Amino acid sequence: MYNGGKIIAGLIIFVGLFTFPIFYNMGKTSAMPEPKLDTPVIKQLVEKRCVESKEYMRANHMQLLDNWRDLVIREGNLVYESTGGKKYIMSLQNTCMHCHSNKKEFCDKCHNYANVKPYCWSCHIPPKENEI
Ligand code: HEC
Ligand code: HEC
Ligand code: HEC
Repeated sequence: MYNGGKIIAGLIIFVGLFTFPIFYNMGKTSAMPEPKLDTPVIKQLVEKRCVESKEYMRANHMQLLDNWRDLVIREGNLVYESTGGKKYIMSLQNTCMHCHSNKKEFCDKCHNYANVKPYCWSCHIPPKENEI
C-alpha cells in the first residue's frame, strides 16, 4: 500500500542523516582538521617521521622555527641535529616545505582552524602546490 506520510518521514530522516556532518561542522563545533601528509616527498620516506616527534612538532614547531631562524641568521649555524641524531639543514623553505609541500592542506588548514596567521610568507616563498 502507498503511504505518503511514511515516505516523506523517511526522506526527511534520510536528508537529515546525510547532511548531519555538514551542519555539525558549521560554526565553532568543528573538529580539528587532520593535517594531510600525502605529499610526494613524505610518501617516499621510509620512516614517516618529522624533524622531531609528532607530539613535539605539534606543540613546538613555532619555537623550533624561531630557534632555527636565530641560529641561521645570528650564528650562521646551518645544521640542526634532531633528538634521534638525524641532521637537517635549518630552512623553512628548503626543509619544512620540502616535505610539507602541501602548505594549503597542511599548515594553512591547521592555522585557519586555530586562527593564527604566520607572517612568514610575505618574504619566504611558499611551495608551488601543483605537484600533488
Ligand atoms: C623529512 C620530512 C619532514 C620534514 C623535513 C619536516 N616534516 Fe613535519 N612531518 C613530517 C611527517 C612524516 C609528519 C608526521 C609524523 C607522524 O605522524 O609521526 C610530520 C608532522 C608534522 C607536524 C605535526 C602534524 C600533526 O598532525 O600534528 C607539524 C606541525 C610539522 N610536521 C611541521 C613541520 C615543520 C614546521 C618543519 C620544519 C621545521 C617540518 N615539519 C619538517 C615530515 C617532515
Ligand atoms: C597541527 C596543527 C598545525 C600544523 C599542521 C601547523 N601548525 Fe603552525 N601553528 C599551529 C598553532 C595552533 C599555532 C599557534 C600556536 C601559539 O600561538 O602558541 C601555530 C603557529 C605557527 C607559527 C607562529 C605564528 C605566530 O604568529 O606566532 C609559525 C611560524 C607556524 N605555525 C608555522 C607552521 C608551518 C610552516 C607549518 C607547515 C609546515 C605549520 N605551522 C603547521 C598549528 C599548526
Ligand atoms: C621581512 C621578511 C621576512 C619575514 C616576514 C620572515 N623572514 Fe625568515 N628570513 C628572512 C631572511 C631575509 C632570511 C635569511 C635568508 C638566508 O639567509 O638565506 C630568513 C631566514 C629564515 C630562516 C633560516 C633560513 C631559511 O632558509 O629558512 C628561518 C627558519 C626563517 N627565516 C623562519 C621564518 C619564520 C618562521 C617566519 C614567520 C614567523 C619568517 N621567517 C618571517 C626574511 C623574513
